[in-house]
Amino acid sequence: MAELRTITVCQAELCQNRGSKTVMHRLQTRWEELYKDKYPNLRIEAGDCSGDCEWGPVVTVNDSIILRHVDKEMAERLLENPDEMLGEVMHVLEQDRDTFDRIIGGDLF
Ligand code: FES
Repeated sequence: MAELRTITVCQAELCQNRGSKTVMHRLQTRWEELYKDKYPNLRIEAGDCSGDCEWGPVVTVNDSIILRHVDKEMAERLLENPDEMLGEVMHVLEQDRDTFDRIIGGDLF
């Protein structure tokens, strides 16, 4: 089970033009309504441009996993089932699986 520690939503101009404010708002309200007990230490914060603008809205999970083209449905799924969401997006090579599991488990950073 992936531990969600930080979710950073780019709030620079290009991501905002693609709806990153809505994504951030959805994450914050759903966390407060439903997921506070599940992720008591989760921080949801605004981030700066990382240069990945063409794939915006860009969301970074646990300071290490970058999700692209995130919409409000994806934001909801991330809170509901992070393992499914992160596994689907990452396509991790088998030899990197152990490291990936440690990253999403919060062990490496
Ligand atoms: S504006 Fe969001 S990554 Fe550049």
